[in-house]
Amino acid sequence: MTHPKDVLIDWLRDAHAMESQAVEMLERQVDRIENYPDLLVKAREHIEVSKRQADRVRQCLKMLGTDTSSIKTGIGMLMGNAQSLSGVFASDEIVKASVFNYAFEHFEIANYRAMIAAATTAGQPEIARILQQSLDEEVEMAGWLEQRLPQVTATFLARREAGATVEAKR
Ligand SMILES: [Fe+2]
Repeated sequence: MTHPKDVLIDWLRDAHAMESQAVEMLERQVDRIENYPDLLVKAREHIEVSKRQADRVRQCLKMLGTDTSSIKTGIGMLMGNAQSLSGVFASDEIVKASVFNYAFEHFEIANYRAMIAAATTAGQPEIARILQQSLDEEVEMAGWLEQRLPQVTATFLARREAGATVEAKR
């Protein structure tokens, strides 16, 4: 038998990997974004948000008497796809990255919802409360991306039509 607390610990370790990958992914993106200053500002901001979210996950693991030591590979495999996506040197990568970020935020949202439910079931309301803060931030980011996606796409198409084919620095 596996206690809900042990499952929660497992998922928190996954979440730590998830946030670490989010930071890496966004850092790669900010190196490549130009012509979209608001995306750049928001991506930089979300790097700091994601670092705080990783801190919160570590805090939760500490409250459960453990840490991030167990290496998780599942999320790493998922993010292998993210790397190939965000690493694509294509002129439409700003749109591809925006689509991916929007999907990724929902992946994070779903994971936080599951972890909050698990924390509640495991009798850890304080952990549920801490994770709720990160969930709220992911919902905000997803909403922002949702609002911006049509305009980013329109801007990209207008730039391409005008002959500005280089959308990345390298
Ligand atoms: Fe996050």
